[in-house]
Amino acid sequence: MVLHEVLVPERDAGTHSMKATARDVEEKGRGMCSTASGRDRSEALFGSANGREYRERVRSQYSSAKGALLTVSGFLSGHESMAESYFKRGAIDVRNARRILDVGCGMGRFVRRALQYAPPDATLVAADLSWAMLERVRLRVRDPRLRFAVADVTRLPFASESFDRVICAWVLEHLPQPELGLAELKRVLCPDGKLYVLVTEATVPGRISAWLWNCFPQRRDRFLGLCEQVGLACNSELWWTPVHRWLRLGGICLELHRK
Ligand SMILES: C[S@@+](CC[C@H](N)C(=O)[O-])C[C@H]1O[C@@H](n2cnc3c(N)ncnc32)[C@H](O)[C@@H]1O
Repeated sequence: MVLHEVLVPERDAGTHSMKATARDVEEKGRGMCSTASGRDRSEALFGSANGREYRERVRSQYSSAKGALLTVSGFLSGHESMAESYFKRGAIDVRNARRILDVGCGMGRFVRRALQYAPPDATLVAADLSWAMLERVRLRVRDPRLRFAVADVTRLPFASESFDRVICAWVLEHLPQPELGLAELKRVLCPDGKLYVLVTEATVPGRISAWLWNCFPQRRDRFLGLCEQVGLACNSELWWTPVHRWLRLGGICLELHRK
């Protein structure tokens, strides 16, 4: 199974220039860093045996049949309906966006909806560590505005300030150090752009979900602190319904901007 065209914007040029198979890009991505500070950060995590182990674990989990179950589990957990509700009421707002990035796009839950609400001349880049997940999106979502990139959230192959909307849903809890991903998401976000981050919260249902998907649930106050630490301010905390807010269900869903 090969993705025929994976477009990766040329680093620091902001144009889509490189075409390769997803496997090629994945291989190149192992050594790719977009900035010196990105290199330092990623070396801290990915130069180590733990980092390699982490990436292989994520890839093998999501590239396997388990990854394909994301849609089913999304229906059962309510994440499908929640995503729909956020776009429909404009809580995740892509209506005037020109360049959108969805990092850790999985089966394309947010990709499909962002394309539905984005302007006809927008470009959306779907990025994921797992080329198999991108292939699944390519087979399910046909849209000329869509591009693909095999990429790691801690070292994205895009120029700084490339996107006016960035979405990263249920990804950062996979990282031993989520702040590395947050800093990189901030880097590629335009100064007046909006970043939507959704992560599993350390509640009882969140811990069960994290156990099933081998990730680290986050404490809300600590996670908000990490956002502050990397220079991201929280515009609003999103809740699916008032009942979810009251019961603290649905995960940590934030709209952030650069400070
Ligand atoms: C739980 S799924 C969420 C998918 C999608 N965002 C959604 O809401 O349906 C997590 C996805 O993040 C990807 N992922 C995990 N770690 C990543 C990393 N460091 N960089 C990029 N993608 C990553 C996985 O391959 C997987 O597709």
